[in-house]
Amino acid sequence: MLSKEDNHLLTRTGPGTPMGDLFRLYWIPALKSDELKSDGKPQKIKLLSEDLIAFRDTEGKVGLMEEACPHRGTSMYYGINEGCGLRCMYHGWKFNTNGDCTEIPSEEGDPKFRQKIKIKSYPVKEVKGMIWTYMGPEEKMPEFPEFYWMGLPDDYVMSERVWQECNYAQVMENDLDYVHAAFLHKANGKQEVGEGILSSDLGISPDHPLVRNPPVKQDVEDTNYGKRCIGVGIGSETEHAFFEIHYIFPFYTFPPRLDGDDGMWHAFIPRDDYSTWTWDVQFSHNRPIDVQANHERRGIKVDEHFRKQINFESDYGQDRELQKTEKGNFTGIRGIAIQDHAATETMGPIVDRSKEHLGTSDLPIIHMRRLLLQQVKAIQEGKEENFKLDSNSLKTLYSAGIYDSNKKSWQEAFPMKPQFKKDGQEVNS
Ligand code: FES
Ligand SMILES: [Fe+2]
Repeated sequence: MLSKEDNHLLTRTGPGTPMGDLFRLYWIPALKSDELKSDGKPQKIKLLSEDLIAFRDTEGKVGLMEEACPHRGTSMYYGINEGCGLRCMYHGWKFNTNGDCTEIPSEEGDPKFRQKIKIKSYPVKEVKGMIWTYMGPEEKMPEFPEFYWMGLPDDYVMSERVWQECNYAQVMENDLDYVHAAFLHKANGKQEVGEGILSSDLGISPDHPLVRNPPVKQDVEDTNYGKRCIGVGIGSETEHAFFEIHYIFPFYTFPPRLDGDDGMWHAFIPRDDYSTWTWDVQFSHNRPIDVQANHERRGIKVDEHFRKQINFESDYGQDRELQKTEKGNFTGIRGIAIQDHAATETMGPIVDRSKEHLGTSDLPIIHMRRLLLQQVKAIQEGKEENFKLDSNSLKTLYSAGIYDSNKKSWQEAFPMKPQFKKDGQEVNS
């Protein structure tokens, strides 16, 4: 449970809000590279409640800038992208990818006037088919976070971005929730899946340790990237399944996987306070990823604005008959990712956390909220610098998961790797 004040602090990320200021100190995935063609159509993209547009210029450089033209405010989305710049359709003012004004056709006699004009723009970096940006003050720009999957060959990695119709916090909390897999994602019968692939579009097989039982034990450790959330479930009569979920400050996660499974990474970027860009990266550790199988099991088809075609308006395609048969699943909803969207969007755009009832199984969510709120308050009071991510540690981080004797504690069987400990922290071993 959170007070109304803390819930407000947690969920509001527009310009000038405390959480918005904090989020702007981290690198944000914004668009997929293939959304932008050289001299092609610009793309609208709202991030942290700011209306922006992106375009790729003649030389292939990407610009990400405010949507409103600094002359009189017409949308630059309708502009003409040619000759290394984007020209506003209203009076022809032209801007390059750095936001410099390069032409004002009606003011050619006064170059000084033009030199004073800038359109607000943000730096970008393209990695693994994704365009990332940093929206904070230049002097506070952190090093780029080099996540593990960025070091894999291109065809080992796939990514999708989807517009999710609720606040980022409730979407991210779903990723830190071990227990939901045993219900929301449960298929009624065993699922035929390819090597390394967790589920079909119906869900996860009932004998998988994530589903067979909710984890019997959970724990959370502090790390140098955020939180390591441990879940211990029953693997067999003699073994436990030891899982981990990583929460990487402030809005990235690695959901749980077992060794041999393909991996998954998420980012939850507020579009505004009522919707989220949910980024899903799937990666294989040692072979090309099966794009088709993973796309189908997620079950999400989006329109040109990245909104789901099967959604709240169509009851997420819920089929009540499907729930009743052995060939069906717990929800009657097809698509493991749509199941998550249905669970989080039907809470409403922003959950009133003063009315919820958290149980012991919600421990990772409590830790994540506490860290975000503690950071934002400490910064507000001028007591602390923001949490810094260390690329050297991120390079080796992903969710592992093992079977081991059920006589062992998780500290014995599945300790934190030393490179993830915080300065001065003792690691269980
Ligand atoms: S409003 Fe864009 S050039 Fe005038
Ligand atoms: Fe889920």
